[in-house]
Amino acid sequence: MGSRELRAQLDQWERASDLHRSDRNWFDEGLHLITTPALPWGDEARQIAVDSYRRFIHAEMWDTGEGGRAMEADIIAFMGGLMGASSPAGRLTVGGSESVLCGILAAKAKAFAKRFPGLGTEDRYPRPFTGGDAGPLVEFSNGRKSAILPSYAHYSSYKACALFDIEPIVVEPRPGTFYTVHPDDVRQAIREDTILIYGTAGTFPYGTVDPIAELGRIAEERDIYLHVDACFGGYIIPFLERADYYQPALEPWDFRVPGVCSISADLHKNGMAPPPVSSIIFRDASLLSDLQALAPPFGTLTGTRAVGPIAGAWTMLARLGLEGMKQVSLESIHLRDRMIDGLASIEGICITPDSRINLFCFYSDTLDLRPAVEVLRKAGWAMATKGVPAPVSVAVCTLPQNLGRVDEFVENVAAAVKEAAVPLERERAVAMEDLYGGIRA
Ligand SMILES: Cc1ncc(COP(=O)(O)O)c(C=O)c1O
Repeated sequence: MGSRELRAQLDQWERASDLHRSDRNWFDEGLHLITTPALPWGDEARQIAVDSYRRFIHAEMWDTGEGGRAMEADIIAFMGGLMGASSPAGRLTVGGSESVLCGILAAKAKAFAKRFPGLGTEDRYPRPFTGGDAGPLVEFSNGRKSAILPSYAHYSSYKACALFDIEPIVVEPRPGTFYTVHPDDVRQAIREDTILIYGTAGTFPYGTVDPIAELGRIAEERDIYLHVDACFGGYIIPFLERADYYQPALEPWDFRVPGVCSISADLHKNGMAPPPVSSIIFRDASLLSDLQALAPPFGTLTGTRAVGPIAGAWTMLARLGLEGMKQVSLESIHLRDRMIDGLASIEGICITPDSRINLFCFYSDTLDLRPAVEVLRKAGWAMATKGVPAPVSVAVCTLPQNLGRVDEFVENVAAAVKEAAVPLERERAVAMEDLYGGIRA
């Protein structure tokens, strides 16, 4: 293809990708940080993060990884510290799914280390490049393990179970509660072969937080690994806590809870970083080294890792610092509060309860909103939808780039509901297909 033709094709694909409409996107991807009255440095911070990404675009974490490794260590130390760990260790990954997979594999690695306490990590597994005696590993793998997963845990946790031969034991929320598990139900579900309890701090798409402190007590009592999936909440809750947003304060949900072993948290969501970049943070280096022995050489699922996204994320965090992240987090959550006020004032519209982060859903008990959702999509709004509460709930994630669109969206929803929603015939209403990031789930 000649360069003129090539440019035309790229222009077309760029337009089709709707990059220019990120302010109308209520999913979490896109250009998150812009200048607003509360964030006068927004554009500048985004630009230097993008420049830094570009600067390291050819670097990988091997031979040209010196800078990348330093930036990675810096982010893990900063965030792990804010999440209450005194000597955290961890890795940056290509996304929340990989971070979740690493956390769950680390639970398996820890269970293995417990089963074969006399073996040093180098002896436990085949050596990364030369092979070796895998005897104990084979013996360990012969017994299947199980994990306690809330039914609404992100699908990457189920993917991990499938990949790592772990049986998921699914715990449902109790009737009358919404997207949180009851600790007694988790306790009841534990078996002899259970190696993991999984909790979420900021569920998708309801923004709820599991009772991590109580899950931590159970994990400690039973000596079971507890992973907290804070892919959505991890880069906003610590800053909102420090900005005194939560009144009353949130129950501890992070390493302040002694049973918590690892936390997954996405920089390409509330960390404002250009994708793909997420973090898996361990309470201490021994958990990472157990994982590294099973998943050499880094403890991640990948081999070659790109430095560009790590550089983008580091630069963004370094530029914003604690104060900037507090301001960004407050801006995002204030947008959520404004959006909830606006949507709740539309007749027939309800808001899902107990969101603790910049993510929630609206739905209706009396109206079938499916035709209204189609009207909104045709008008260019990008939203994730779920079939719960049936027949449809619409996910809304508010980020700084959406500032100028909140009132317009509320007006558009009111008009679409008036024009297209019909009375809900509950018996006949089939749940709308879940749509997640524009993909039918
Ligand atoms: C709670 C939670 N966990 C994990 C993930 C997976 O993240 P990713 O899409 O970056 O792999 C998501 C993504 O939305 C999420 O919301």
